[in-house]
Amino acid sequence: PIPVIIDCDTGVDDALALLFAVRHPGLDLRAVTCVAGNTGVDGVVRNTLTVLEQAGAPAVPVARGAERPLIEPARRAPVHGADGMGDLGLPAPTRAPADVDAVTLLHREILASPRPVTLIPTAPLTNIALLLRTHPGVTRNIERIVFMGGAVTTGNATPVAEFNVWHDPEAAAVLLTAGVPITMYGLDVFRRVVVPGAEVRRLRASDDPGTRLAGELLRCRPTAQAGAPGAEEAGGLGDAGAVCAVADPAGLTTRLLPVEVCLAPGPARGQTVVDLRPGPGEAEVHDGGAERALVDVALDVDVDRYVKLYLETVERP
Ligand code: BDR
Ligand code: CA
Repeated sequence: PIPVIIDCDTGVDDALALLFAVRHPGLDLRAVTCVAGNTGVDGVVRNTLTVLEQAGAPAVPVARGAERPLIEPARRAPVHGADGMGDLGLPAPTRAPADVDAVTLLHREILASPRPVTLIPTAPLTNIALLLRTHPGVTRNIERIVFMGGAVTTGNATPVAEFNVWHDPEAAAVLLTAGVPITMYGLDVFRRVVVPGAEVRRLRASDDPGTRLAGELLRCRPTAQAGAPGAEEAGGLGDAGAVCAVADPAGLTTRLLPVEVCLAPGPARGQTVVDLRPGPGEAEVHDGGAERALVDVALDVDVDRYVKLYLETVERP
């Protein structure tokens, strides 16, 4: 199996991502690190431990990370309810977090892995930036970073910025220039992978607590399918799509493109500026071929393939 570490801000769709990672036989979830984003970091730790326990996961180490972005104050994503998990009334976890911080756990687990690790951040990139600056040598055992964040077209936190990048743009800029292969699973594909209402109903009726939880979580995900039959119960995979992309990269169409984060104050702060100009000739003529990070940007996704993959994985006991 592929060794993976998820850095998350659980979060309804982060929870969907964790459930998938725990149950996919081709993935070896070695650690989970938590960061402030959808809710405060202590809530993220609690939600993460609860989800792993409900999923019947073996004792995966979970560590608490940054409680605020590098520069900005912390801001929450109100769409995830008061507890950051859709207010489903889930039990408190019985497991405890690791007694080390997220950067220490990331560093330790990445270097301890017998095979290079794929890092999957589904949250603001504060922990990852701190890791890369504190332990730059860690990249030698990172296979790839597949992050949910950014957008080629429209944003969600602002007209142009996606929440994870907008929440900590400086951290995202550190990630993009890390010098490791990066896949950007941005809003353009994130929004598209939606599980139909009939399947969500089936998950919710399951005897298995982890499968049932996936159904309850999907039911609180907003979808873009208003008006379609069963649309009220349909739910987007969100962050879980980025984990599907690691388990089954053939379902994602990417292109290696220059990407820069806008750090300037003002309406474009946090935008991921993706250079889609037919290049390289045209780009070089107009901007002197400025050095920018090259990122595998997700441009298309096989929706049916990932929905099927998600369902067969979380319905596995
Ligand atoms: C991202 O923001 C969060 O609210 C979600 O969990 C996802 O990671 C989408 O912009
Ligand atoms: Ca998230």
